[in-house]
Amino acid sequence: MPDIGYLNGRFSPLAEIAISPDDRGFLFGDGVYEVIRAYHGVPAFWEEHYSRLVRSAAEIRISFHLEPQDFYRLLVTGLQQSGYSEGKVYIQLTRGVAPREHGFPLSIAPTVFFSFREMRALPIEMSRQGVKVITVPDIRWDRCDIKSLNLLPNVLAKQQAQDAKVFEPIFVRDGLVIEGATSNIFIVKEGQLRTPERSHFVLSGVTQQQVINLAQEHGQDASFDHITVRGLYEADEVFLVGTTIEVLPVVEVDGEAIHKGKPGPVTCALQQRFKERVSRL
Ligand SMILES: Cc1ncc(COP(=O)(O)O)c(C=O)c1O
Repeated sequence: MPDIGYLNGRFSPLAEIAISPDDRGFLFGDGVYEVIRAYHGVPAFWEEHYSRLVRSAAEIRISFHLEPQDFYRLLVTGLQQSGYSEGKVYIQLTRGVAPREHGFPLSIAPTVFFSFREMRALPIEMSRQGVKVITVPDIRWDRCDIKSLNLLPNVLAKQQAQDAKVFEPIFVRDGLVIEGATSNIFIVKEGQLRTPERSHFVLSGVTQQQVINLAQEHGQDASFDHITVRGLYEADEVFLVGTTIEVLPVVEVDGEAIHKGKPGPVTCALQQRFKERVSRL
């Protein structure tokens, strides 16, 4: 099956798509993005991703005027053309093409690019047994609420984690836990779920909100809060969430075992509920 791309109004095999060398996404990382997962052909939580994309674009003054129903139609058409029922759609929206100058022409048309690939889920043992993480200083800017293409600190931190043979780096700013390089984080303490407070320093995760909803629907206390590094080490359970990883138990932080190195019951229950939620899409 071919990977499919969509660029500025046209679908084609992904391999045939060429982006201009003057695209500001390429030159400056001047753009925003989203990733949407499709389960059995259905794009999951697409309205939430669409809203976040529109917001991210507006925050950096990119004019993006795709209506929600047209956005949805693009998703479904690309998925159908690719033939992947378990799909991963990246949407890259850049300011557009212009000769290289830091300041940007105000009337420039944005580049709208979608890629449609097969979603390869994490190995089942990883989801069952959990992963290790390390904490790292958050050297990113203070608008991490924007899903910007500028991912250099995330790239370097993720590689640092991989070099340390752990799954994810967890950014820490002023002693507070923020998020993973590609995920949001939750802790469980005395039966209560906590995830770092929403602010300009953290991406508001689509999966994070779904998990809060799932917890609350089951009468569980789940809220946004300050989480210190000590609070992370002393948590009863820790888990990561994100579009591609769903709910992923954490069994070790900076070499300290969490829940005796095994996924905890609250995490496993939410993992199961999330799977049921997406299976009903
Ligand atoms: C920095 C960061 N935080 C959180 C997330 C999780 O967000 P979502 O659940 O919307 O995929 C991601 C996912 O890409 C991310 O890159």
